[in-house]
Amino acid sequence: MHILITAGPTREPLDPVRYLTNRSSGKMGYALAEAARDAGHQVTLISGPVHLSAPEGMEVIRVDSARQMFLAVQNHITKVAIAIFSAAVADYRPVMQADQKIKKNAASLTLQLERTEDILGSARSVFGFKGTLVGFAAETENLIANAQDKLSRKGCDLVVANDVSQAGIGFDSSENAVTLCFPGAKTVNLPQQSKMLLARDLMHHIIRIASDTDTGRAD
Ligand code: CTP
Repeated sequence: MHILITAGPTREPLDPVRYLTNRSSGKMGYALAEAARDAGHQVTLISGPVHLSAPEGMEVIRVDSARQMFLAVQNHITKVAIAIFSAAVADYRPVMQADQKIKKNAASLTLQLERTEDILGSARSVFGFKGTLVGFAAETENLIANAQDKLSRKGCDLVVANDVSQAGIGFDSSENAVTLCFPGAKTVNLPQQSKMLLARDLMHHIIRIASDTDTGRAD
């Protein structure tokens, strides 16, 4: 199967030397891409700026901003059977991007931000994607309720819920623990382990959903 994966953070520029970003390392998305490749699938990895080298044996598309990631996904999603959105896309960007470095002339500075494109939220409604759709939910409270809500609002087949308030897992760490949220309020816990092992396990679940959907369609 052909699988598209988004990974890493995005950077939203303020001026030529500054940007807004977040703590995503991209490790989970890269581990998923490698697990998919190792299981014999064709992978397109759309990555924000990370300190990881491009994995071999797959198409890697590097982007910086949410807008660039949106356009890259739009260009590739129609070709794939599965789309996994593990990127920590910035939800807001500065309204104004200065051409020159902003000087510290004023005592205070107020930034005005605007919403970025919701890439996961566009998959069904804007891109018309009909394949298996997997979102991630990084939350600090009401983990499962927020993940279930995201699942139905965005038309996902699975939302991978990640409690980022827990020390030692999630952002920047090499280990993670997640709860899989399926339609019908079904949940499955994947316990704390290396992101590599977790990615293999997660990929098994995702391939199973995609195969079941395929079989369902063929009937
Ligand atoms: N995502 C995306 N594009 C964005 C923001 C997020 O594709 N501009 C994707 C992430 O890759 C992840 C999921 O959406 O799969 C995370 O959703 P998030 O934005 O956290 O959830 P929402 O419910 O839309 O909003 P909130 O931030 O209020 O929770």
